[in-house]
Amino acid sequence: MRILFIGDIFGRPGRDLVRYALPIALERFAIDFTIANVENAAAGSGITRETGDELLSRGIDVMTTGNHVWDKREALTYVGAEPRLLRPLNMSALAPGRGVTMARTAAGRPVSVINVMGRVFMPPVDDPFAAVSAAVERLRDACRVIVIDFHAEATAEKVAMGWHLAGKVTAVIGTHTHVQTADARILPGGTAYITDAGMTGPHDSIIGVVREAALKRFLSGLPARLEPAEENPRLQAVVVTADDETGRATAVERIDWSADDATRARAEMADGPGRAN
Ligand SMILES: [Fe+2]
Ligand SMILES: [Fe+2]
Repeated sequence: MRILFIGDIFGRPGRDLVRYALPIALERFAIDFTIANVENAAAGSGITRETGDELLSRGIDVMTTGNHVWDKREALTYVGAEPRLLRPLNMSALAPGRGVTMARTAAGRPVSVINVMGRVFMPPVDDPFAAVSAAVERLRDACRVIVIDFHAEATAEKVAMGWHLAGKVTAVIGTHTHVQTADARILPGGTAYITDAGMTGPHDSIIGVVREAALKRFLSGLPARLEPAEENPRLQAVVVTADDETGRATAVERIDWSADDATRARAEMADGPGRAN
């Protein structure tokens, strides 16, 4: 099967690009299952029922989050009520919601998603390595295809998680930094890995927010109100190809699309195979 994992969807520019480009990507890459990190989907910060339900209606099967999950108050009830929306597994047991879900493709094949958060330069959470190992152990008999969203800041912690799970899960995909890394690969044992899937949102920005205000904070050290930016929206994601029976990944490919790139992909498909070049 082929799994699309979309990097942090940021604000309306990100959601609008998902609405336009996701149907094209689903067809172009023959996608069976779609996962997206949505921690910045509502105005760049958090998730609301309205934005989450909208993204689910566009064809996203499971939504993951991270440190921004509770930024909008209504997430407290939405995360608890929507089984397709995860919060990091290694948050307090008193937090609403869940960090693991098992879903199915349209053809009925099981896919599990685990959302877990790092501890280096991040708000305090429980040990992500122990938490994810226990969850994988519980899932393994019921489901071979297991995808991890590791929401973390430090490259070394993310690479460590990749090797911790190499040969045990289908994919370890990093989120949170909003900058797509060029290290997508298949680790020994058939685990797709990338340090960060990137951001689906405005890229003429400072990781999603208006440049002037964010720069002012760096230049002056004074607080500044950060607003979501608008310019240069790009869809950043990875496509993982996996064997349904073993759960092993066989290929991983990065996507970095503007709306024009999506339009070109659609035109190439309309031209038909063999005529694109
Ligand atoms: Fe984010
Ligand atoms: Fe984050």
